[in-house]
Amino acid sequence: MRFDVLTLFPEMFRGPLDASILGRARQAGLIDIVIHDIRDYAEDRHRTADDYPYGGGAGMVLKPGPVFRLVDSLCPGWEKAPRGTGSKIPGLWLVYLTPQGRPLDQATARRLAGVDRLVLLAGHYEGTDERIREALVDEELSIGDYVLTGGEIPAMVVIDAVARLIPGVLGQEVSPLEESFTEGLLEYPHYTRPADFRGLRVPEVLLSGNHERVRRWRRKESIRRTLERRPELLLQARLTREDHQLLRELLEESGAGSVSAEAQAGPAAPDGDEEGRKAGSGPDQAC
Ligand code: ADE
Repeated sequence: MRFDVLTLFPEMFRGPLDASILGRARQAGLIDIVIHDIRDYAEDRHRTADDYPYGGGAGMVLKPGPVFRLVDSLCPGWEKAPRGTGSKIPGLWLVYLTPQGRPLDQATARRLAGVDRLVLLAGHYEGTDERIREALVDEELSIGDYVLTGGEIPAMVVIDAVARLIPGVLGQEVSPLEESFTEGLLEYPHYTRPADFRGLRVPEVLLSGNHERVRRWRRKESIRRTLERRPELLLQARLTREDHQLLRELLEESGAGSVSAEAQAGPAAPDGDEEGRKAGSGPDQAC
């Protein structure tokens, strides 16, 4: 699979995409990532890529010219080519990263992993000339409801989430099938040796050697985590009859109803400890 990134800050991509699993996948030729500097397609000696908004207002707007010319270089003659692949530019799928986009989720990553050539446009400034969106952009994605300084980090997030689903990229290390979100549930907790670390013990069931008990425990912990942290995911998850039974057990163990209250508020603080619960109020003792 090939990724093309269109950015004003190509230097931001040096490092994150060269290391670890992505670096190895690139070296092995499983993925190809090409970073394009939008300014290379500017027409003036200042390499201008932005301009003032028509109608006035604060901020600058990404000009159409450099981005269109960059796209021309990726797919010469695209404007005259017949459509029909579902994308605006034949042979590629162009995603624009913006907080206004649809939130990226695992299902989207899976769909994008089926694309041969994914082009990621990292937005900047106050916005992007609307003609870029209308003529070139197939899909707009956001990585969350917060505003970053630009679309570069979101583009890296998309590459990472998509690339790891391409066969061979994860190698033997991890199976993408068993992870959070694949089945709509969060992952169960993991432990490794030693069984007793500073008095913190690994749950007995994991040492039992009883595969069926281990499987059931993991499933239950998966549901517990989802219930506590992301209860809304349970509504969409594909739950089996056993899952419903495990859910009933969890609700009974906690006293039905109080689980979701805790999930939202976090565990109750002991009386008189209101301050200590506030996020960011600092540790009790400096290290
Ligand atoms: N650009 C700035 N913030 C962003 C976000 N949250 N998602 C995608 N692109 C962005």
